[in-house]
Amino acid sequence: MNSMHSSNGRVRILVPFEIRSRFREDVATGLSRPQKSIAPKYFYDHAGSLLFEQICQLPEYYLTRTETTILTEHAADIIEAVGECTIVELGSGSSVKTRLLLTECQRSGYQLRYVPIDISESMLRETAANLVADYPLLQIEALATDYENGLAALPPAQRRLVLFLGSNLGNFTASEQDQLFSSLAASLQPGDYFLLGLDLRKSATILEPAYNDAAGVTAAFNRNLLQRINRELGADFDLAAFAHLAFYNQKLGQIEMHLQSTGTQEVAIADLDLRVPFQVGETIHTEISRKFDAAETRAHLQPYGFQHRARWTDAHGWFLVSLFQFIGVTNGQA
Ligand code: AVI
Repeated sequence: MNSMHSSNGRVRILVPFEIRSRFREDVATGLSRPQKSIAPKYFYDHAGSLLFEQICQLPEYYLTRTETTILTEHAADIIEAVGECTIVELGSGSSVKTRLLLTECQRSGYQLRYVPIDISESMLRETAANLVADYPLLQIEALATDYENGLAALPPAQRRLVLFLGSNLGNFTASEQDQLFSSLAASLQPGDYFLLGLDLRKSATILEPAYNDAAGVTAAFNRNLLQRINRELGADFDLAAFAHLAFYNQKLGQIEMHLQSTGTQEVAIADLDLRVPFQVGETIHTEISRKFDAAETRAHLQPYGFQHRARWTDAHGWFLVSLFQFIGVTNGQA
């Protein structure tokens, strides 16, 4: 395990395992399938992360704004329910919403301990520096790795509050979700808490504009995937020859995002020694964004040993922040 310390001793950044990117292999297999696909985790190179930050500010993208309102209104209730704790965050990014909870812990006179887990070491370093400047008593032990390895390397703590916000769970398939819940159950101690932020099912007239914004930022975010393949794998995708497509699949309760070929074409990917043919209208599936039903999610978490404790929503009932407590596993499933 590699580890780095900040000069003031309040930030430690650990790299439990070097995560080798499987980008090359995943692009090669994904573009060779009958339904071409690339996993949404590959959106987030530097340009993609900046575009996602812009998405969060869009008038049509209500998710970030709504979750922030809920956390602003209920940070005190959440910290009152949990008590003094080490805050762990999966996919911490810039930790903007986490500040609401840290401020509440500070106000309650609790020790401030934060374990952000993020794949981007540079992001962790930058965010940690900003946080310790603003919270003079905060101790940070950051883990620069993926969720699974991060959960396996959690530092010991009396009681943890694990955050998984932003409806990030929506980008997981059902089996990836099960894998995450099982890793969580394997890493937590009875008494620990899990705070989950989820976008709820609602009318397509609200959902679809959130993924088809008028300014075209989501389209640019989607097409950046092709740009990334051009840049990193020497491909010759013509970005103008792929349309952004995002629609709500009512039956599955998920937004599906694709890049659709506007004509018949062939793309060369030099580093993979691969030529990929496209028919007119053919798509690369780039993302699912599942929308949730509160009762269903509670039922999914229950067999992993998580008991529902409290829930908070917004005035429209669009977004849900749910608090679960890990009580341990009774039937040996997790
Ligand atoms: C990160 N994730 C929860 C976003 C979502 O809404 O599924 C990613 C995104 N894709 C398009 N717009 C935003």
